[in-house]
Amino acid sequence: MTGMLKNKTSEEIYKQACEVLTGGVSRNIVFRKPFPHYTDIASGCYITDIDGTTRIDFANNMAALIHGHSHPAIVKAVTEQLNKGTAYTLASEIEFAYAELLCNRVKGFEKIRFVNSGTEAVMTMIKASRAFTGRPKIAKAEGTYHGTYDFAEVSQTANPSNWGEIDNPNSVPLVFGTPKGVLDNVVIFPFNDIEKTVAILDKHAHQIACVMIDPVPHRVGLIPATNEFIEAVYNWTRKNGALLVFDEVVTFRVNYGGAQENYSVSPDITALGKIIGGGFPVGALAGRTDVMKVMDPREPNLKFPHSGTFSANPITMTAGFVAMDLFDRDAVLKLNTLTNSAVNQIKDVIKLADVPVSVTGAGSMFRFHLKPTPPATYREAYQSKEILAVIDELLDFLYFQEKILMINTFSCVYSTVLTQKETDKLSEGLLRAFKALKPKIDNLQKNYVSNKMIMTS
Ligand SMILES: Cc1ncc(COP(=O)(O)O)c(C=O)c1O
Repeated sequence: MTGMLKNKTSEEIYKQACEVLTGGVSRNIVFRKPFPHYTDIASGCYITDIDGTTRIDFANNMAALIHGHSHPAIVKAVTEQLNKGTAYTLASEIEFAYAELLCNRVKGFEKIRFVNSGTEAVMTMIKASRAFTGRPKIAKAEGTYHGTYDFAEVSQTANPSNWGEIDNPNSVPLVFGTPKGVLDNVVIFPFNDIEKTVAILDKHAHQIACVMIDPVPHRVGLIPATNEFIEAVYNWTRKNGALLVFDEVVTFRVNYGGAQENYSVSPDITALGKIIGGGFPVGALAGRTDVMKVMDPREPNLKFPHSGTFSANPITMTAGFVAMDLFDRDAVLKLNTLTNSAVNQIKDVIKLADVPVSVTGAGSMFRFHLKPTPPATYREAYQSKEILAVIDELLDFLYFQEKILMINTFSCVYSTVLTQKETDKLSEGLLRAFKALKPKIDNLQKNYVSNKMIMTS
């Protein structure tokens, strides 16, 4: 197979790929106009395509690779495991060892179950919440991405034409054909807005199984939830018999014990994914014993029969164990410190380039906004077609001219193998990109201000 493709360029492969893969790809995120580039090799924080271009990787497979590519300790451990089998219809000891490692890491992780993706973790979390409470509805923040389960997708891309009043946001379908029953069972609230959220939740009080929160939701703007907001939602759930559930598929990297360590109250259950797979497909659900019990096969009245062919396969468990063992308190602190200093350095670049750009983020992640002050809500962070066009140009400049790979929302996630050298390259690249596109970035701001004046006059 490899022989068939030898010496072909990315452009040539893509042409052939379109014959067999819808749009030529299996995940839209890797699509790029005019064609995506095919990876030859990735090592550490560098990724080289088959056309011979090497880029610095600030995307890390959408925040999944905490130690970059092919970390030697993970490669060694996985290679040993490969010789012992890849998946069995028997349990494996590494599954227990890894469960113990993660449960020891977070106070609220009394029990854990592994699945195969973040989507599956969120789906399992929602179904466990329904099974535990016997209620049908979930509540989620407008604009959040929680993977591709029907209920979790609602209002993920709500826009000014359909999002409705902020006091009572619409439940907006993502996929054409989503059943009305799905929309009717998802309650949408504005992130970080206590008063409005509580009023909205109150209207559905006895029907809500769980309130789902991503504590630093990327698509909302990579804005951390305030402690007051988390506390208010926690108190609401205590008063109304619902669960507070966190999606930490991305944010688990924020602290040693996840972003939840930042708050005075803890979620009942948490969905995990990405970094805990050590580079392999993974998800997990962790939390209160009594809630997790809905999946316990020893229960005479099993409420939630739960399985998955590749769940807790020993390859993922081995890679995840090594990755998270290496990502200890010191490593988390070092990574967050490096990222924080990168953000400060880049803020100087923004000043130097004299562009109306702001930065949000937490831990080892940050996101740029083409606005002079950081947005505080999804609706403020919302990117119009005009903004998206300029962001695409900036990302293309960085990708093609500066050899820098970022996440397509104009975000970076750091890995432990990045150093000051790559941060300097990022700063220099951004400076050139901001300077090159300054007129267009300035124009967005001018249009934004004049539109606002028309709307308020
Ligand atoms: C917050 C969040 N939850 C869930 C998911 C879904 O994870 P996966 O892509 O592994 O299904 C993602 C993926 O990006 C995510 O960002």
